[in-house]
Amino acid sequence: MDNLFRLKDLSVKEINDILDLANKCKDGTYDNYLKDKIIANCFFEPSTRTQYSFNTAQLRLGMKVISFNSDNSSLKKGESFYDTIKTFESFNIDGIVIRDRKDHYYEELKNIHIPILNAGDGASDHPTQSLLDLLTIRNEFGHFEGLNIAIVGDIKYSRVAHSNIEIMERLGMNCYVSGPEEYREEGYKFIDFDKAIEQMDIIMLLRVQHERHEQKMQLSLEEYHRDYGLTMERVNRMKDNAIIMHPAPFNRMVEIADDVVECDKSRIFKQIENGVLVRMAVILKTIGGM
Ligand code: NCD
Repeated sequence: MDNLFRLKDLSVKEINDILDLANKCKDGTYDNYLKDKIIANCFFEPSTRTQYSFNTAQLRLGMKVISFNSDNSSLKKGESFYDTIKTFESFNIDGIVIRDRKDHYYEELKNIHIPILNAGDGASDHPTQSLLDLLTIRNEFGHFEGLNIAIVGDIKYSRVAHSNIEIMERLGMNCYVSGPEEYREEGYKFIDFDKAIEQMDIIMLLRVQHERHEQKMQLSLEEYHRDYGLTMERVNRMKDNAIIMHPAPFNRMVEIADDVVECDKSRIFKQIENGVLVRMAVILKTIGGM
């Protein structure tokens, strides 16, 4: 694998192979496996989980890590995105992790010849988030085929929803979306939230992506919580084996009630744990040539 831009470019077999390798990373087999390699993390958009999860994966692999600080860089002197990335390539490092606000930013990086790992581009794709979601689901249910998932919230502006729906459908899952009308998108199957609660195997909540909106949300935060928030009352109506997921960061008492965050059905922190494993796996596949 040369780069990781989006999961659309990978076959179902390649995706399952990455998940298998991620599970193998659990026991320390690949710790320090890439100890001579140097990688840079270039985040042009805020990030806690993705950035530091990549960082943890790199440290587990024994890599040497450069953390680019965009606020303290020559971007402030007017240097372009492309020239910044070209500079890192010229350091002769082994790979680069990039997150940017721009959809498909990697299309302008065709002249960069070191592996690029996409840590999120605009509202389009978030391949490592989808991989960690898939690992969490496969480890929980043992398969994908026939599972019902509802992704709830700001579908329109969410790269997590877009990335996930494409690959989950390809893996044989039934994907539904739910949430406020203003954030719905053509082409996806809509389900009423309270119906989804009772019928789905997986409820995946999303944060409202306020930073990508031109207009203020029509609902107040209280109204959002009332209509689309996962409360304990709703959790109690979910199927016995159903689980709750959220890419985080979550807003307590908006899309999720306080006591639901760490309830028995929640896999939110398991997802974060799995994030390190899938990121180790994609680094091994690209930079490690596995
Ligand atoms: C998401 C993102 O940045 O796309 N978070 C993440 O990477 N875990 C979702 C979000 O910001 O709401």
